[in-house]
Amino acid sequence: MDDFNDLQKRVIELKRAKNALVLAHYYVPLEVQDVADAVCDSFAMAKKAAAAKEDLIVICGVRFMGEGAKVLSPEKTVLLPALDAGCPMANMVTPEDVQELRALHPEATVMCYVNSPTEVKAVSDVCCTSSSALRIAGSIPGDEVIFVPDKHLGAYVASKVPEKKFYLHEGYCPTHHRVREEDVLAAKRAHPEAVFAVHPECDESVVRHADFVGSTAEILDFARNTPAREILIGTESEIVRRLQREFPEKRIYSVTGAFTCVNMKKITLEALRDCLELEQYKVELTGEQISAARRSLDRMISI
Ligand code: 13P
Ligand code: SF4
Repeated sequence: MDDFNDLQKRVIELKRAKNALVLAHYYVPLEVQDVADAVCDSFAMAKKAAAAKEDLIVICGVRFMGEGAKVLSPEKTVLLPALDAGCPMANMVTPEDVQELRALHPEATVMCYVNSPTEVKAVSDVCCTSSSALRIAGSIPGDEVIFVPDKHLGAYVASKVPEKKFYLHEGYCPTHHRVREEDVLAAKRAHPEAVFAVHPECDESVVRHADFVGSTAEILDFARNTPAREILIGTESEIVRRLQREFPEKRIYSVTGAFTCVNMKKITLEALRDCLELEQYKVELTGEQISAARRSLDRMISI
């Protein structure tokens, strides 16, 4: 407890008093990650929410993560610390978009990235995260896939599963999409010895230069295990902070100075304290929404 500040100590007290399970995504501030019961990528978060024993689950992440937890654990109370922490990429796709794509490609399986609204999961065949996308794309029957909403992750998966034909939606993550090939080339010139690990939400012109491509948790594992002493990171800034703290002897750089998900940063310690104290903000979904979205999420977890 000695290493924690007063606000962190208050959060830990509240967590115990309420018997809450606090799950944090790697992009929320490190100070929040440090008081969570588990820090996860999107796939681990969904699995932990589905297996939770506690009656109260707090999702330190954006709205689709909270809704995903509610779908997988409908009998539990699921709270989000910030009401306005949404994911702009998730908001780029609608159920109507999926229906239009289905009408154009009636034989295709609809694979939806977990960064999508519950209503879109409800009209999709299978969900995926960045760490499970290749495995799921390779295992689904048929040879046509509609992938929504991330055009960059979709293009990456398509390049790795060439036996299937992919139809991509036009969505993208504004945080990862901002990185340009020029940024990577400049960073590589500045740090010629560095290995480069990137998230597949980046543009193909960026991903092309990577030594490793993976989800947030996979990038952390790569950085932990590589013998390289210098690592360039192509994902959100909190991953860089986390690695710099964990490996002070390694040189860890971000590939660009502007790699922040503003929505994840809304999950402050103050917001988490208020969330636990006031039991706000409850994720509310109807039974119909839950059962419609559940199929694609269950399928993701079981593959
Ligand atoms: P992962 O945690 O699955 O790598 O996803 C990254 C992301 O952008 C979450 O919103
Ligand atoms: Fe959405 Fe991108 Fe932020 Fe993840 S990093 S929550 S995909 S905007």
